[in-house]
Amino acid sequence: MPLSPMTFPDGHVGWRAHDHATVRAVLANNGFSIRPDLMHNPFGPGSPGDAPPSPPGAFTDHDPPDHTRYRSRLTGQFTVRRMRLLAERLEVITAEHLDELAAQGSPADLVEHFAVPVPGLMICELLGVPYERRAEFQQDAMTLTGGSGAEAGEAEAMFAAFERLQRFMLEMVAAKRARPSDDVLSDLVNSEVTGSGDALTDDEMAAMGMALLGGGLDTTTNMLSLGTLELLRDRARVEAMLANPDAAVEELLRYISLTPATVRTALEDVEVDGVVVRKGDTVLVELGSANRDPARYADPDVLDLARGAAGHLAFGHGVHQCIGQHLARIELKIAFPGLFTRFPKLRLAVPEDELPRRASLVIGGLERMPVAWD
Ligand code: HEM
Repeated sequence: MPLSPMTFPDGHVGWRAHDHATVRAVLANNGFSIRPDLMHNPFGPGSPGDAPPSPPGAFTDHDPPDHTRYRSRLTGQFTVRRMRLLAERLEVITAEHLDELAAQGSPADLVEHFAVPVPGLMICELLGVPYERRAEFQQDAMTLTGGSGAEAGEAEAMFAAFERLQRFMLEMVAAKRARPSDDVLSDLVNSEVTGSGDALTDDEMAAMGMALLGGGLDTTTNMLSLGTLELLRDRARVEAMLANPDAAVEELLRYISLTPATVRTALEDVEVDGVVVRKGDTVLVELGSANRDPARYADPDVLDLARGAAGHLAFGHGVHQCIGQHLARIELKIAFPGLFTRFPKLRLAVPEDELPRRASLVIGGLERMPVAWD
């Protein structure tokens, strides 16, 4: 059955999409909405209307045409040229943090000293956060993701960090207006000046910056820790990563499926492979199951780092497909080989079942990952 019925926590009988073809079909169909305020929340008891409408500019939560208006201003900025420049910076940032990890001495926490700060600095590079403000930006970003400074789930500290980051982002927009540089926020501001887009407010631009921050931090951080965990299980896996990082990273993305599911709600009656999803029905779209669909991947539960995993859905599909995927790939392809070249004898410093896992259905990950080396 392409779609299976599912009872949501608020009692709504909606749907699950779980095979590769159906997940793609739902995500490609603009009859489905991503708006949190329309959905029956599958991860909590929320019903439509419980979540407030997302603010202008927070494009990850908007449907077309609003979403298109914002996203089209950003897609042109993830250019080959900018990605190449970022790759050069990432090489440096990665090497610096491997030094920092080494300086801690064995054992040390890979999450705190590597998996959290590197993606944070990558976002700083992308947005053009000035060097002298990076420490405070990083601290708040870490608090926001529960990485440091606040115990995971300490809502007040996270909310305060979110508000500070919002103010910071607004300040940055104003600063880029006054003195643009070569970064995403400057290009957003510049597109107004050159008339290449309709006017966006400062609040909208700041919200777009926050969306990039929100999308780019937790994901890459947890992919780094969980990916390392998978590689550490078998020396042959490390060799496979060093031999062909392109293929190995794609397969890790498929196998781990860091965002196991996303959610859509029908804006109208929509037919998916003979099943009619009624207007207002919510669909849990299971990216993780789709990535383990045996009709798409032979032996899907086997991590085969040489397979390449073309067509996986770890970055989603359709209009909301991950805007940062090229950057994420670059980072993972630099970070994993960098880590294992620098620490060939890397190993876990505690038994695996003592690793604190993040209790989240939205994004998996590790709170800490003590590693040792000789
Ligand atoms: C969207 C995964 C890295 C920014 C998405 C979606 C997924 C995803 C599954 C689609 C969500 C949906 O359809 O509901 C990942 C993974 C990453 C990663 C697994 C790392 C391994 C990044 C990075 C950035 C980023 C580095 C920023 C530079 C975004 C944004 C969206 C998005 C802004 C929303 C796009 C839109 O709504 O148009 N990501 N992501 N992501 N991602 Fe990523």
